[in-house]
Amino acid sequence: MPASNQLSQLGASGDLARVRADFTRFMMEYKFGMDEVETKISILQEEFTHLHDYNPIEHVLTRLKTPESILEKIRRRGLDPSFEAIRDNITDIAGVRVACSFVRDVYNVYDMLISQPDVEVLQVKDYIDNPKPNGYRSLHGLIRVPVHLSDRIVPVTVELQLRTVAMDFWASLEHKIYYKYRDSVPEDLLVQLQDAAKTAADLDERMGALHLQTHGEFAGPSP
Ligand code: GTP
Ligand code: MG
Repeated sequence: MPASNQLSQLGASGDLARVRADFTRFMMEYKFGMDEVETKISILQEEFTHLHDYNPIEHVLTRLKTPESILEKIRRRGLDPSFEAIRDNITDIAGVRVACSFVRDVYNVYDMLISQPDVEVLQVKDYIDNPKPNGYRSLHGLIRVPVHLSDRIVPVTVELQLRTVAMDFWASLEHKIYYKYRDSVPEDLLVQLQDAAKTAADLDERMGALHLQTHGEFAGPSP
């Protein structure tokens, strides 16, 4: 039975152990893709720190979507429960979030990463240039990296989110509030969140200006 059909045949065949093994293998590919990207970022961070005595990255977070969350998303979207459909449609199975010090670091780190020949950019969403209506700011890139397995090379899609620590602070807390209220965030709370996002953006601007004053050319090119 081809691997692609095994999820849909779960009920019929009852071959749970086999499906579980295939699913684990499928998830491993995403983990390896995520590890590849994490390693690329840590190499950039270490080398940049060595060369310029400056570390543009505050912290990096990786996360793999849980199988339950993947299955819930395919159900919600009415997709075929096959590995192919998941691969083609669920693009945030592997996620890497990079919190940088300043706005220009966000763009610099992103540029350094995507200029590598084995990194393919599938999609970019610049929510820093175009913040979401609620005030959310971040640079999102959907990238694909090759993962070398024992017998083949698989291209793996990884969702990359880069933001400043101020943007990260706002997004983490907004996420908590949003999940408390789900889809019905009260209007006044929404306005306050937008206002807080503006405060975070102002802080980024002020800190960026201070950084430029104190570091000059080492602050890197402007975004
Ligand atoms: P999903 O289908 O939910 O993944 O969103 P999308 O396909 O529209 O992609 P988008 O790039 O807009 O968002 C992907 C991810 O960015 C989300 O899963 C969140 O982690 C993050 N994100 C996007 N919008 C917001 C927001 O308004 N607030 C917070 N806290 N995070 C957000
Ligand atoms: Mg998502």
